[in-house]
Amino acid sequence: MNLTLDQLQEKLKAWKGCPLWEHSNPVLGEGSADAQIMFIGEAPGQKEDELGRPFVGPAGKLLDELLESIGLAREDVYISNVVKYRPPGNRDPTPEEKEQCMPWLKLEIALIHPNVLVPLGRHALGHFFPELNITSAHGKPFKLTDDAWVFPIYHPAAALHNPNLRDALSQDFQSLKKFLTTLPA
Ligand code: URA
Repeated sequence: MNLTLDQLQEKLKAWKGCPLWEHSNPVLGEGSADAQIMFIGEAPGQKEDELGRPFVGPAGKLLDELLESIGLAREDVYISNVVKYRPPGNRDPTPEEKEQCMPWLKLEIALIHPNVLVPLGRHALGHFFPELNITSAHGKPFKLTDDAWVFPIYHPAAALHNPNLRDALSQDFQSLKKFLTTLPA
């Protein structure tokens, strides 16, 4: 089944497979359907829930700045989340919620077919490589398939809470930029 992003959005609106739907709005990913790079966060926060769009609050503002620092705009990439609804009070998503929402992320990945998947933080990294730890894996490429790599980076929200991570985050984006130049066009 070859769905478009708009069709996926409509299907998500009608979906009730994760109990979080009762208290929040669905937030699918957004960006270019031809993106080579897909950024994957954890779950929508308050602003994302209000607007129904990913990474549009404070963490999103920082993500925009980091993208700009390597010459990219939101429109050039695809930005999504593991969980499609806001967990109450921004608590961590539970393993069940991640599992319930995972088919959506898989559909997005199948549709976009990015060469580089960038998990932002441990929740998204855990989906691809449960054995890896974000503290040691950030800023480095890991081969996923013949034509896809995973390049973990700290979550931008982590740097908002802990300014010591801000430099690491900037450096990781520079490493990502360098890595992108090594990929076939
Ligand atoms: N944090 C996330 O993980 N995702 C968002 O969309 C916003 C904040």
